[in-house]
Amino acid sequence: MLFGIIGGSGLYDPGIMSEVRTERVETPFGEVELYRGLCEGKEVAFLPRHGPGHTVPPHLINYRANIWALRALGVGRAVATAAVGSLRRRLRPGDAVIIDQFLDFTKSRPATFFTGGAYGVVHVDYTEPYCREVRRALLSAAREAGLRAHDGGCYACTEGPRFETPAEIRMFARLGADVVGMTSVPEAVLAREAGICYGTVAMVTNYAAGMAGRPLSHQEVLDLMAANAARLRRLLARAIELMPAERICRCGEGPGLPEIE
Ligand code: HPA
Repeated sequence: MLFGIIGGSGLYDPGIMSEVRTERVETPFGEVELYRGLCEGKEVAFLPRHGPGHTVPPHLINYRANIWALRALGVGRAVATAAVGSLRRRLRPGDAVIIDQFLDFTKSRPATFFTGGAYGVVHVDYTEPYCREVRRALLSAAREAGLRAHDGGCYACTEGPRFETPAEIRMFARLGADVVGMTSVPEAVLAREAGICYGTVAMVTNYAAGMAGRPLSHQEVLDLMAANAARLRRLLARAIELMPAERICRCGEGPGLPEIE
């Protein structure tokens, strides 16, 4: 099995891989450029979510092409990183949250492969939106990497690219969200549709709008990610090492993608 890594803000290079080569994958949704190589002796595909050099904003990412490309290459399990704002005082900047639920507040993104016709009408179960085996590996790896890591958390996904208003943040918190970001939906949704085990380590980069008593900036997000980049790379390499190739979860039991299987 091939393992996948989806690098979010602040994680654009496959620094944890050896024998790195660039690959272009054609998908029905466009071409995807990613890196292949070895990590902890395992075959890995690394995909910078925002494109090489962070040129694509969250609401314009071609999520379907990205996930299709990973699946087409044979990725069965994938870990992702995501920068998030915290809605809870106990989740501090620098902490890692191994999220286990999401709330979807996106507005304009193609969020499914199942658009009828040849793709079919399919309703996939999201009782457990993130793979429990991938989450377990991420949690252990995060703690070993020296991060304060939280087991579980609800991710509110906004459309972006703007940050939220304090009123929105208060609403998300009341609805049960713990962190806020702009990318986990539809990425997690499409990964499940494609039958890929998927988990995300959400790095808290800031307290959300209205909680810190000052305006937010993209730079503070990038600065915190840069300060934690080495730890994050160690975490990912260890998570790849810990993740078993054999799957006892149910992530692969969905319909899969008809053109691939
Ligand atoms: N809001 C949305 N996305 C984010 C934030 C935030 O506060 N921090 C990092 N990504």
